[in-house]
Amino acid sequence: MQANGGGREPMLGRLRGWFTRRLPIFWDNWLAASGSMLVVVTVFLLILMFFVYLYNAIVGRESNPYVDLIGFMLLPAFLLLGLALILVGNLVRRSREKREGAPHVIGDLLEPAQLRRVLAVGVGTFAILIGLGLFSFEAYHYTDSNQFCSYVCHEVMAPEATAHASSPHANVRCVDCHIGPGASWFVRAKLSGIRQVYAVLTDDFHRPIPTPVENLRPARETCEVCHWPARFHGSRLVAHERYQQDRDNTATTTALVLHVGGPDTPGAAGGASGIHWHIDPGNQVRYRHLDREREDIVEVVQTTPDGEIRYLRDGAEADSTAGTWRVMDCLDCHNRPTHIYDLPHRAVDLALAVGALDPAVPWLRKEGERVLREVQPGDDTAALLATRLREIYAEEHPEDLAALEAGLEPTAARLAQVLERNVWPQMNLGWGTYRSNLSHFDADGEISSGGCFRCHDEAHVAESGETISQDCELCHSVLAMEEPGWAGLQGIDPQAFLKR
Ligand code: HEC
Ligand code: HEC
Ligand code: HEC
Ligand code: HEC
Ligand code: HEC
Repeated sequence: MQANGGGREPMLGRLRGWFTRRLPIFWDNWLAASGSMLVVVTVFLLILMFFVYLYNAIVGRESNPYVDLIGFMLLPAFLLLGLALILVGNLVRRSREKREGAPHVIGDLLEPAQLRRVLAVGVGTFAILIGLGLFSFEAYHYTDSNQFCSYVCHEVMAPEATAHASSPHANVRCVDCHIGPGASWFVRAKLSGIRQVYAVLTDDFHRPIPTPVENLRPARETCEVCHWPARFHGSRLVAHERYQQDRDNTATTTALVLHVGGPDTPGAAGGASGIHWHIDPGNQVRYRHLDREREDIVEVVQTTPDGEIRYLRDGAEADSTAGTWRVMDCLDCHNRPTHIYDLPHRAVDLALAVGALDPAVPWLRKEGERVLREVQPGDDTAALLATRLREIYAEEHPEDLAALEAGLEPTAARLAQVLERNVWPQMNLGWGTYRSNLSHFDADGEISSGGCFRCHDEAHVAESGETISQDCELCHSVLAMEEPGWAGLQGIDPQAFLKR
């Protein structure tokens, strides 16, 4: 009996005894013991993850962002916790040994038992530090990846990530614009990142995320890494296809010659002209705004090699210091270089122009825009849109209901795509929530006082009486404004409008 059934008991006991004698630092009390367990389990999981990553790398499979989050952030955190527990456990052990008068002198180091302890701690710490080093290197890369930025905080970042993925900057990493090169911005970004992850975990953040983003790194240090301002020159011909809100969805053309300009444009005073005059290295435009959104601009100061001109908005107090000063850079105009949201009328125009929506469906330009404005995305957005379209046609265009029904499925599917890309109810993000400053029209397509017209409104006046100009020819030549077909361009030589 003793020899058989109880055989395990002494065996375990002996093992435990061996541990307590040889490696008391890992085993002596429950603090140190649970710390050791934690370390063993996390090290085991880390090794497992290492092989998972190795496997993914070999077969070329993308890793899952949530697994990444566990691997690069959670497990190392547990590892540190385990080590901390061992440390605390041993402080407890030491103070107990002191109290009980157990020998604890440096001289003991020469004793084999002490030596083994010191060796064990040394080797363990060394291995763990190397492991942690490797992991924090990976963690660093990982927190720089688009995946981390977009999908770990999926609900928060989904609109931005989606817009980014279909923009001219789809292949530019989030961190190239949001952090840029250099150590100090890196540290700043990671610190604010920790706060942001906390905010998401505790569900404590603004919906929508407020813009302009404060403390965004100056464009000189991000955008200008890739875009060299001295390179801009000349003009650009821009043509948009627009459709009228009639039964036939009549196609029209709007065509502009945009005077993009820049420092290299010859013939300009000071070497610069056109739209990029503002960011010529020889020029500076500063402005004072009263609101967070930088839309309520009361004072503008223009500094060029020819001197300084100060413009004050009609009715503003000359000596007031209220508000905040800002030096204009790329982002005051290109505030949506990559998170580009469409407007419903423009999105329908574009879909008709590229054939994604069928212009033969009567009233589609008008009613397509209307349902996009009325309906919110849901579980089955296409079905919601189809239902609403059917209602509208039955009530207002019964004679065209059959034409609608014929192609209703692809029509609703396409409109659903547009809606789900631009409207995000969980972030309170609707049409026009994030406005582009690269124009002077509002979300309904009316000329507005936003964008360029925040300053170019003829209401900002210098002492000489000069105003910041709203001359329609200053920024562009309008070749055609919603003219049917390309008729507006017939007989016009765009060359005649190019500023060179
Ligand atoms: C080409 C540069 C660029 C890239 C790449 C970029 N962003 Fe942005 N992002 C900006 C700018 C500029 C703003 C500021 C808009 C403003 O202040 O009005 C911004 C704003 C934001 C905002 C605030 C909300 C908003 O829509 O204005 C979030 C969130 C954001 N970006 C997330 C991301 C994520 C996630 C990625 C990668 C998937 C990313 N960004 C990639 C330039 C960029
Ligand atoms: C890592 C390099 C990189 C950075 C950083 C970068 N861009 Fe770009 N940008 C590009 C490339 C590449 C293109 C060209 C894309 C194409 O032609 O399809 C581009 C295109 C553009 C365009 C033209 C878009 C169009 O409709 O044709 C604008 C405007 C622009 N960038 C502004 C910015 C601004 C503003 C920033 C800073 C917030 C910025 N970029 C940061 C690489 C970059
Ligand atoms: C005063 C407003 C303003 C400022 C400031 C500004 N831009 Fe532009 N930029 C424009 C406009 C308007 C266009 C034409 C947009 C279009 O084609 O629809 C443009 C066009 C561009 C293009 C496309 C050029 C082309 O010829 O196709 C790039 C790239 C660009 N800007 C980058 C920048 C960068 C980088 C900065 C900062 C150094 C900057 N812009 C500052 C208004 C501005
Ligand atoms: C913060 C104020 C401000 C904003 C916003 C602004 N501008 Fe200007 N802009 C100025 C000032 C000041 C001048 C110089 C006075 C003038 O020419 O009327 C100027 C001059 C210009 C010029 C003439 C440059 C020359 O001498 O050839 C063009 C073109 C121009 N702006 C285009 C734009 C466009 C396009 C936008 C919007 C995308 C814009 N500006 C937004 C302040 C601004
Ligand atoms: C300070 C610069 C500036 C001034 C002044 C200005 N515009 Fe514009 N305008 C722009 C910019 C920038 C765009 C956007 C170009 C694009 O589509 O890429 C634009 C776009 C347009 C469009 C095209 C709209 C569309 O369908 O896309 C029209 C039409 C237009 N402007 C008319 C006018 C008229 C009329 C005036 C005179 C009251 C005027 N603009 C003055 C900068 C200016």
